[in-house]
Amino acid sequence: MNIDQLLKGHSTVAVVCTQWGDTGKGKFVDLIAEWADVIARGTGGANAGHTVEVGGKKLVTHLIPCGIQHPGKVNVIGWGVVFDPRQFFIELDEVKAEGIDCSNLWIDLNAHLVLPQHILLDRLDETASGGKLGTTGRGIGPAYVDYVARTELTVNDMLNPAVFRSKLARNLNKHQAKLKGFDPELIRSILQHEHLGNGMFCQDDGGFDLEAIVDVYRVYGEALQDRVRDTAQLVRDAVATKKKVLLEGAQGLLLSVDYGTYPFVTSSDCSPRGLAHGVGLREDQVDLVLGIVKAPYMTRVGQGPFPTELGGAESDTWCGRSAITKEVEQERFPSASINSLDPMEQGVAIRQAGNEYGATTGRPRRVGWLDLPLLRYAKQFTGENIVLTKPDVLDACERIPVCHSYAYEGPDYQMGEDTLTKGDIVYTAYPQPEILGFCVPRYDYLEGWLCSISDLTTYPELPEQFRDLVNYIEKEAGVNVTLVSVGADREQTITVNPPR
Ligand code: GDP
Ligand code: IMO
Ligand code: MG
Repeated sequence: MNIDQLLKGHSTVAVVCTQWGDTGKGKFVDLIAEWADVIARGTGGANAGHTVEVGGKKLVTHLIPCGIQHPGKVNVIGWGVVFDPRQFFIELDEVKAEGIDCSNLWIDLNAHLVLPQHILLDRLDETASGGKLGTTGRGIGPAYVDYVARTELTVNDMLNPAVFRSKLARNLNKHQAKLKGFDPELIRSILQHEHLGNGMFCQDDGGFDLEAIVDVYRVYGEALQDRVRDTAQLVRDAVATKKKVLLEGAQGLLLSVDYGTYPFVTSSDCSPRGLAHGVGLREDQVDLVLGIVKAPYMTRVGQGPFPTELGGAESDTWCGRSAITKEVEQERFPSASINSLDPMEQGVAIRQAGNEYGATTGRPRRVGWLDLPLLRYAKQFTGENIVLTKPDVLDACERIPVCHSYAYEGPDYQMGEDTLTKGDIVYTAYPQPEILGFCVPRYDYLEGWLCSISDLTTYPELPEQFRDLVNYIEKEAGVNVTLVSVGADREQTITVNPPR
């Protein structure tokens, strides 16, 4: 597969997920990084988990862009990212230990900081509400809240200890009032977590130790000094001088705070618009968006509506329990088969075959069938050019259901001047949980291909049933399949159509 040929005529390309994350963005950013001069992340933070597999070796990054394995390329963490220095240094050590050169890795001076209080507040909100959203616990929501509340600190503040100290004091003052509403023992126990420095920021009375945070972040600042710069300008200059720029999406369109299944979303805009904005560009400066679609099954981690979920509420509850691992699932569902007639068991089997356990939290990902009403919705923001990933997971699946539309089965629901009524057929999904939660999938059933596709290298070699699936998706969703991924490795990628 020749990436230069595929991207001919393009100079700023974005890789974004059209679903709820974990679709294989990491693999494609790594693959396209070969073509790019600059690779930039613009949204989210260490909630992301992006996996790159090369020659059987796996690297998972959360903050560091997936272009890092390509010598000589410029990698950027943009201003729209919420940056946790502790997590960054853990990753940097891991990447360096692989012998990877990190001298061209830059962090924007205006990137927002994830501070210990953000992680505490994230975890308190989840605990107190009984896991309402199922966040990753990385402090993402509270950090973005501080940003829009105008009480956030930036990466550059770490380089100016006096400024950092005074902004931190103001920020902590604001949060102390909220913390008073929580059980002090609960706060103390959360502060012992490793993501919160194993208690190093906790005073004897359970409150925050401002001086401890100042000291630790001063050391981070000193260590980061030579990596901090105005990367937004760097990216704009790269675009202006016709360098090739690759934008790495995080999360997915359906998790976007602006376009996703709100409130079951993350706190940044993971659409191409948010991504461009988060690296310092306008959306119209991106000349190609590749929307990643896991197919013909899809996944979701955390709470929120998922109409095609295999096993429905039972699966949602099971995956939401703590400590569900691959081993625990094998013991509980010993006969789970990918062709099981029991949807819960079939879902477990697909999760195991696809190794669908979170790259950041290890949580089991909820599994369901490809949902075209949601894809029709997402493509309005991500465009028509898509990449299909992980179909090889269903090599042994005899019958493949694809959801082409929904029947709305809820109470009358007013959407502006329109009323949704029981029995209405929905072709393009509404992201509102009040609607999506009552949408019952209507399926077409396609034939499985029942052979291994992971070693195939050209499109005509793929089995007819697989090509029928590709044609079906293109026709039904009005999309253009550019690439198909048939395995985790860079090499396991097949070109289908040039981007339109
Ligand atoms: P991201 O968050 O979108 O980067 O995706 P994750 O890394 O969280 O999850 C995708 C997983 O699927 C990773 O373990 C990848 O190595 C793997 N993967 C990517 N593409 C394929 C594929 O086509 N087939 C298979 N079997 N695995 C894939
Ligand atoms: P990548 O980039 C899948 C989900 C969480 C939760 C919701 C809010 O690897 O695709 P947050 O911690 O962001 O406040 O959690 O968003 N979530 C993800 N799900 N992949 C991700 O990232 C995710 N990042 C956040 O599970 O439901
Ligand atoms: Mg992921």
